[in-house]
Amino acid sequence: SIEAKVDSLLSLMTIEEKIGQLTQFSGQGTVTGPQINDDFKEYMDKGQVGSMFNVVGAKGLRQLQEHALKHSRLKIPILFAADVIHGFKTTFPMPLAESCSWDLELMEKSARISAIEATAAGLCWTFAPMIDISRDPRWGRVMESAGEDVYFTNLVAAAKVKGYQGISSYKDFSDPHTMLACAKHFVGYGAGLAGRDYHSVDMSDRTLRETYLPPFKSAVDNGVATFMTSFNTLNGVPATGNKYIFKDILRDEWNFKGGVVTDYTAINELVPHGYAQDLKEAANKALNAGIDMDMNGAAFIQHLKTLLDEGKVTEEQINVAASRMLELKFLLGLFDDPFKYLDEKREKENTMKPEFLAEALKNAERSIVLLKNEKVLPLASTTSKRVALIGPMIKERRSLNGEWAIQGDRRLSTTVYEGLTEKYKNAKFTYAQGATLTGDVDRKEINKAVAVAKNSDLVIMALGEDFNWSGEAASRTDIQIPLAQKELLRAVKKTGKKIVLVLLNGRPLDLSWEDENVDAIVEAWYPGIKAGDAIANILSGDYNPSAKLTMTFPRNVGQIPIYYNTLNTGRPHDHSDPKDYTSFYLDVPNSPLYPFGYGLSYSTFKYHDAKLSNTTLSANGKVTASIKVTNESDVDGEEIVQLYIQDVAASVAQPIKSLKGFEKLSIQKGQTIDVQFEITPEMLAILDIDMNKVTEEGKFNIWIAPHAEYDGNLMQLNYTE
Ligand code: IFM
Repeated sequence: SIEAKVDSLLSLMTIEEKIGQLTQFSGQGTVTGPQINDDFKEYMDKGQVGSMFNVVGAKGLRQLQEHALKHSRLKIPILFAADVIHGFKTTFPMPLAESCSWDLELMEKSARISAIEATAAGLCWTFAPMIDISRDPRWGRVMESAGEDVYFTNLVAAAKVKGYQGISSYKDFSDPHTMLACAKHFVGYGAGLAGRDYHSVDMSDRTLRETYLPPFKSAVDNGVATFMTSFNTLNGVPATGNKYIFKDILRDEWNFKGGVVTDYTAINELVPHGYAQDLKEAANKALNAGIDMDMNGAAFIQHLKTLLDEGKVTEEQINVAASRMLELKFLLGLFDDPFKYLDEKREKENTMKPEFLAEALKNAERSIVLLKNEKVLPLASTTSKRVALIGPMIKERRSLNGEWAIQGDRRLSTTVYEGLTEKYKNAKFTYAQGATLTGDVDRKEINKAVAVAKNSDLVIMALGEDFNWSGEAASRTDIQIPLAQKELLRAVKKTGKKIVLVLLNGRPLDLSWEDENVDAIVEAWYPGIKAGDAIANILSGDYNPSAKLTMTFPRNVGQIPIYYNTLNTGRPHDHSDPKDYTSFYLDVPNSPLYPFGYGLSYSTFKYHDAKLSNTTLSANGKVTASIKVTNESDVDGEEIVQLYIQDVAASVAQPIKSLKGFEKLSIQKGQTIDVQFEITPEMLAILDIDMNKVTEEGKFNIWIAPHAEYDGNLMQLNYTE
């Protein structure tokens, strides 16, 4: 058995060699923190490097593997890792964008393609998926997430793990296209104070268990091979030194068998966190918390041996951590063939294949959310209108992948300009940049753009955030369109021309002004390699938009955190009958600008005839909730139909509604579809005061809805045991 093989190998290893298996170093690729040890070769020469990341390519990695095997007394292969987050060479939309497709198969497929490309380039481990619940758009890393909802992120976690690993159970990873997945960041990273990256997190055990842990449990249930620690403190204890989450929950409660790697130099950061007085104490606390591998911090390799000699850690602890990392190498089949991922021919044949690129286009089209449309879109591809193309995103190329598509070549994405000019052969395009993405207001450039706009029948503006403005260490306190671009938009608005606004950005923005002042808003996010083509297909209607938001868009930054499944207050506010001393803001409504689950189509859908098969549900029973959805327009479309449930009165107060199911349906023009959801007692369960999962008797409200703010067609169900 693999266990026996691991044990027998361990019995041959020196303590230094074992500690080497707990050590990961970064190559010279993208560096997101201090480069602790430039000379990792020194350790490699002693057979003391378990894993490397930020190094890619079959040829180079073959040389590194050969070097490692030559110098490792026991010929232990290296585990090569990288951040393959939304594509490898073929870049897909950023994860938050892709999640707006609500298409789990699509999300699994992009991960599978990424794994096929990346494993062909020598990698067998990715630091993905990121499944941090994200409710604060100031935080730059929301772009890597699946948004704000727990139920939804649980499903995305499962799809992504399956996509990367090609398998949904922890064990057989020997297929050469298997890329170990990594559930990150454990845990609470998305809840950092005020949306500032790396910031402290203080949350109740209830919030932790109801909201932040479940996606990670889903990853474990679906066989994820590894976990990564998060950078934040959790209730005063940094995650990387936190026994409660790694030992008590991950190992003891969930029985996770795989490896835990720290985030980049996160052990070293226990010192500035004020949790360890020096690196040695930090290494001690991290190992004691249950961490198996030190990412680029050289804390374990420098201090574990001394800590062992001093009796502060035991050899057994080191053995346990080393055996977890060795087991992964055995499961991957690296001991049978350390070069199985290192084949240049395979790499050439499996990079950016036409079918991968076609999937990237499909994925991008399905990720773009139509937020507003006052009868200007679609703009038929045959139009002969004079169209002014304005804004710094029109010809921008390098931002289109967004952050974290590290191996994607930024020179390869099609621009908005290329996409539109290719699509619209008869239109008469004029162009003005008008502003830069990050620069100051430039009146001269704005005036030029205004002149171009005046001479047109329609203006298409493409604005947004430079790709460095989202992702890691890219928090913002102002989430409006950057000022220079906003001034440009205001000036163009004064021409009185109709404006279609295409946005390329990494987070929900405050679009209150835009919502009032432009005719159509297309949230394209960062769409990846096929950006321009996908946007042209959306604007022309060659693809009828179908995406819906997975993260709320606030009216302004002051509403944050804002997400749909909050608790009610004791003094709820009714906007149709406002009363003082209720819970509201004086300056804006409580509701968001665009809610979770919202997105328009060129089709219009009517929801009607909601009904329950029975108004009472009993312990072993089920009830069917159904509704009819009619496409009342004359274009075929797709609709994401959502099921929300509220436990009206419970032993612990429950949110005003929670997503419990959804379906994405193709509905032809004029067609009506009867959509059905089965409701089971399990779907009504809550965590009671002792954190036990229970379904309590009583009333439940049920909606089948186009988005989270929709309150029509209420159905009421009674649960009795
Ligand atoms: O995987 C990432 C992590 O999400 C953030 N810090 C750096 C790691 C490795 O690049």
